[in-house]
Amino acid sequence: LRIPIKRIAIIGASGTIGSQFVKTLSLKESVEKIFALTRQPVNFLSSKIKNIALDYYDEASIKNASAIAHEDGKLDLVIVATGILELEDSRPEKSFLELSFTKLQTLFLANAAVPAMMMKYFLPKTNSNGMIFATLSARIGSITDNQLGGWYSYRASKSALNMLIKTASIETHRTNKQAIVVGLHPGTVDSPLTKPFQANIPKQKLFSSETSVNHLLTVINNLEPSDTGKCFAWDGKEILP
Ligand SMILES: NC(=O)c1ccc[n+]([C@@H]2O[C@H](COP(=O)([O-])OP(=O)(O)OC[C@H]3O[C@@H](n4cnc5c(N)ncnc54)[C@H](OP(=O)(O)O)[C@@H]3O)[C@@H](O)[C@H]2O)c1
Repeated sequence: LRIPIKRIAIIGASGTIGSQFVKTLSLKESVEKIFALTRQPVNFLSSKIKNIALDYYDEASIKNASAIAHEDGKLDLVIVATGILELEDSRPEKSFLELSFTKLQTLFLANAAVPAMMMKYFLPKTNSNGMIFATLSARIGSITDNQLGGWYSYRASKSALNMLIKTASIETHRTNKQAIVVGLHPGTVDSPLTKPFQANIPKQKLFSSETSVNHLLTVINNLEPSDTGKCFAWDGKEILP
């Protein structure tokens, strides 16, 4: 990594992309410590990795997890890799006729409110030498890019997330000119989230988590403070709001 990223927290380290970030980063010599924040303990094999219990929906738990992750010093990189696409009993909406309060509420909570609450407890502790706070967003959250419609709750929850990222970047910039707060689109990745939709995806467009994370680490590596507030795809291209 270009910038010295030594201390890292991965929130949602149990997920396909989150756990891959932990694995790939733990192999980098320059990385000293990785805090893997998960609801259920995960058995990671490196001594660099410390598992911290985190209930994504419990503010006291978020505060406690952040305190543990900052006990011995500031973090250089925080990645929020949580998020959901659908509810167990229903697919993303093709029409507004399929909308429900339950779907909208659940998706907004998971994809916008959870990362926002992570901002509340991790951003105030940014390192004045620079720190990156990256949240897994999605291209589909781009209003400019919306050609197909559908997937109402997921799209709108990721648009809301992108607004939260932008707003938090402005506030963080007031006190820390080096801090970088961004959204990341991982591409289409083979994970439980995309399983039901993979039949329509050309093989070369379906990334393994390893490929996606390698791309995203290159993107992270190339970030500049002037990139704060933006959303980037796996290929480094900015995704317009
Ligand atoms: N896969 C893709 O193609 C793709 C494309 C664009 C964007 N993304 C984004 O990338 C992120 C990670 O996706 P993934 O493919 O790694 O999915 P995944 O393997 O299904 O992992 C999902 C992660 O979200 C957590 N999670 C599960 N239910 C949740 C809930 N109700 N509220 C909050 N968090 C919850 C999981 O924690 P537990 O293990 O504790 O359940 C896990 O850490 C998501 O934000 C997703 O929107 C993925």
